[in-house]
Amino acid sequence: MRSLLSILTSCLSVVSAASLQARAPTPGTLSQVTNWGTQPTNAGFYIYVPRNLAASPGIIVAIHYCTGSAQAYYNGSPYRTLSEQYGFIVIYPSSPHSGTCWDVSSRQTLSHNGGGDSNTIANMVKWTLSQYSADASKVFVTGSSSGAMMTNVMAAAYPELFQAAIVYSGVPAGCFMSSGGGVNAWNSSCANGQSTATPQKWAQVVFDMDPGYDGPRPKMQIYHGSADYTLSSRNYQETMKQWAGVFGYNYDQPQATTQNDPQSGYTRTVYGPMVQGIYAQNVGHTVPIRGSDDMKFFGFA
Ligand SMILES: *[C@@H]1O[C@H](CO)[C@@H](O)[C@H](O)[C@H]1NC(C)=O
Repeated sequence: MRSLLSILTSCLSVVSAASLQARAPTPGTLSQVTNWGTQPTNAGFYIYVPRNLAASPGIIVAIHYCTGSAQAYYNGSPYRTLSEQYGFIVIYPSSPHSGTCWDVSSRQTLSHNGGGDSNTIANMVKWTLSQYSADASKVFVTGSSSGAMMTNVMAAAYPELFQAAIVYSGVPAGCFMSSGGGVNAWNSSCANGQSTATPQKWAQVVFDMDPGYDGPRPKMQIYHGSADYTLSSRNYQETMKQWAGVFGYNYDQPQATTQNDPQSGYTRTVYGPMVQGIYAQNVGHTVPIRGSDDMKFFGFA
């Protein structure tokens, strides 16, 4: 016969297992999501659910820079404030690597469902879509530096997930590709601006990350500073070539170029509805995030 105590204990352990499983992120605070599903890599999953959550909310994935973390990007970027204003959810992935850059170099991360960090982040998006009945037509990705590189990778490897992407001081998708297949490898030739190619070649790098895909792709906005000595400003032109190539725009003939837009010293170049870049004269690494402009590009404002 079981004692009362053992019955109680087993009830309690069932309860605590269930509550662990279903522990909901607390609205209005940065919460870590655990036990959430398939994690090909150990990237941390942090989420900000606004107190003012919209019905069928949008989602922004905000990806941190090297040496950063979910918490640091949460503190240092405007998205949590904007989330309360517009009701969308923010996913802040946290890199699992020492030095905490993102893996934007391995074959796994550079292929659709290939099992790298990009796959883990894509799974976070899918979990959030189903958990919050979020609006799949309002899913966006952005990031700074290493997070900007990952933003380009996400747009290339998971084009079906995102409607738009904003890149703050990154490199083209695949530019950090490691010849030895290294995970989270630094690539000096790319960082120094020596990886250059035609728009067609850069576009092919994108197509090769998700071969056979022919559905819609996210529209792209690329920021880079002219005084960037971490990821050479040459990467601005290379990234613009890449996305102009993907969308079939003529890289040599942008639709419009406007000076002092969106602020003094910045130049906006528009290739068409799907691709535009903003080159920031005398700005270093990284270009400061422009929260309210991001809201316009993503269609919240
Ligand atoms: C760096 O990336 C380029 C592509 O941008 C690639 O051709 C090269 O092999 C990479 N270098 C290393 C050391 O992996």
